[in-house]
Amino acid sequence: IGPRGPLAMSRLLIRGGRVVNDDLSQVADVLVEDGVVRALGRDLLPPEGAPAGLRVIDAAGQLVLPGGIDTHTHLQFPFMGSRSVDDFHQGTKAALAGGTTMIIDFAIPQKGGSLLEAFETWRSWADPKVCCDYSLHVAVTWWSDQVKEEMKILARDKGVNSFKMFMAYRDLYMVGDKELYAAFSQCKEIGAIAQVHAENGDLIAEEAKKMLALGITGPEGHELCRPEAVEAEATLRAITIASAVNCPLYVVHVMSKSAAKVIADARRDGKVVYGEPIAAGLGTDGTHYWNKEWHHAAHYVMGPPLRPDPSTPGFLMNLLANDDLTTTGTDNCTFNTCQKALGKDDFTKIPNGVNGVEDRMSVIWEKGVHSGKMDENRFVAVTSTNAAKIFNLYPRKGRIAVGSDADIVIWDPKATRTISAKTHHQAVDFNIFEGMVCHGVPLVTISRGKVVYEAGVFNVTAGEGKFIPRKPFAEYVYQRIQQRDQTCTPVPVERAPYKGEVSKLKPKDSTVGTTMQDHP
Ligand SMILES: *[C@@H]1O[C@H](CO)[C@@H](O)[C@H](O)[C@H]1NC(C)=O
Ligand SMILES: *[C@@H]1O[C@H](CO)[C@@H](O)[C@H](O)[C@H]1NC(C)=O
Repeated sequence: IGPRGPLAMSRLLIRGGRVVNDDLSQVADVLVEDGVVRALGRDLLPPEGAPAGLRVIDAAGQLVLPGGIDTHTHLQFPFMGSRSVDDFHQGTKAALAGGTTMIIDFAIPQKGGSLLEAFETWRSWADPKVCCDYSLHVAVTWWSDQVKEEMKILARDKGVNSFKMFMAYRDLYMVGDKELYAAFSQCKEIGAIAQVHAENGDLIAEEAKKMLALGITGPEGHELCRPEAVEAEATLRAITIASAVNCPLYVVHVMSKSAAKVIADARRDGKVVYGEPIAAGLGTDGTHYWNKEWHHAAHYVMGPPLRPDPSTPGFLMNLLANDDLTTTGTDNCTFNTCQKALGKDDFTKIPNGVNGVEDRMSVIWEKGVHSGKMDENRFVAVTSTNAAKIFNLYPRKGRIAVGSDADIVIWDPKATRTISAKTHHQAVDFNIFEGMVCHGVPLVTISRGKVVYEAGVFNVTAGEGKFIPRKPFAEYVYQRIQQRDQTCTPVPVERAPYKGEVSKLKPKDSTVGTTMQDHP
């Protein structure tokens, strides 16, 4: 134990790697102390060698990346009568094994339930179990003055700056356009970013009945009742409403070419909107719903569904590479075969969710970087930095720089691994990427300065991860929004009052006249 006491033991020097940030790559040593990066530069090791208490990791020939941030997980989630099998312990361990050092999960109240209570419930599940840092988005599943007030309290006092609204799951979580308008307005007021699950829930509910009536009870019915247009329509509607109230919008799990095009067009039109494809949509496709093995097909069921058009993953990756899409999550929410089997005779009862938290980084490296679509800097942007900027964690997270948290992955870009349920670290008994060979393998994962995963071996303790509060009004998102409020708010035309004759309405007509806007 060195002169600085026990903490000095946590000193670490990552030597000679290629340090990759979203804007720059450089060969440098990284000195980590007490959980943060203390120095970055050439030859930080004194010529006489490592002093006592300093561990040196040789990273020559390897990449040194900011740890991944998975923007979208549902660990331990009670959903559709089951609970996702990966709890916050297993799920965050799997994340670390894949090079992800932070997740953002969702606290989701029932309709009529308190947002604050849901937030505290999720914290009580996560805090004792997490092995990496985490944060929480909160869902708005109904609307009232209480909800509005609780959003304010969450943003001001609890470290929540993102709220998700479901446009699907009618009768469970879905909210209508009026609620979206109210919720987006409140997000704007408190400096949060609005998130949407964009699918037309009314249409899905009707079309699902139709499929069942046609005798289509298997997983293919899940896609057939909610084709691409259902996602694209809701995406455009959400963007239109958000734009009306000048609220930044984040579309979670963009799954189709048409929804992705809607987002790309809106961005080119100057809208403050971000799209999040997920590992599943980038790595595989919806042809699996037609697989003859029921359990195989059922394991791909998630909402919005994977698309049967096999060119979809490549298309989404192109847009991610070119900044039409911005971040990547996983929607990681895993159910075992016996849980999926709740819907063996009716696809609407199959719990929705797929794996991804462990494999996201490798899948994106393989399909994005190895394929030549994006460079290593863009990889860091879409797996970590952009999420940190949008959700106001930057530069504490999402960057390797002096003063940043030492959430770091030593990444071997040339090594390969084959993804399989037999070897993954998740509790789930199926892997949607089974058999995929990925270049890009995390060798060492460091979470706030501690080596937590190395050469296949974990050194983690449940509860070691921390809840990371996020402040409202992220500059990356809100600078433009606030400027637009000042410069782009419409003003009335100044004119002399009209002094001419005004026609008289009959009394019964006058009531019609005053309510014209509500009842055209
Ligand atoms: C998803 O999370 C669960 C924990 O809920 C975990 O067991 C599983 O490994 C994760 N799946 C993927 C694909 O990351
Ligand atoms: C595991 O981490 C603890 C600190 O939490 C450390 O004291 C211990 O040496 C580590 N074990 C190994 C095998 O690295």
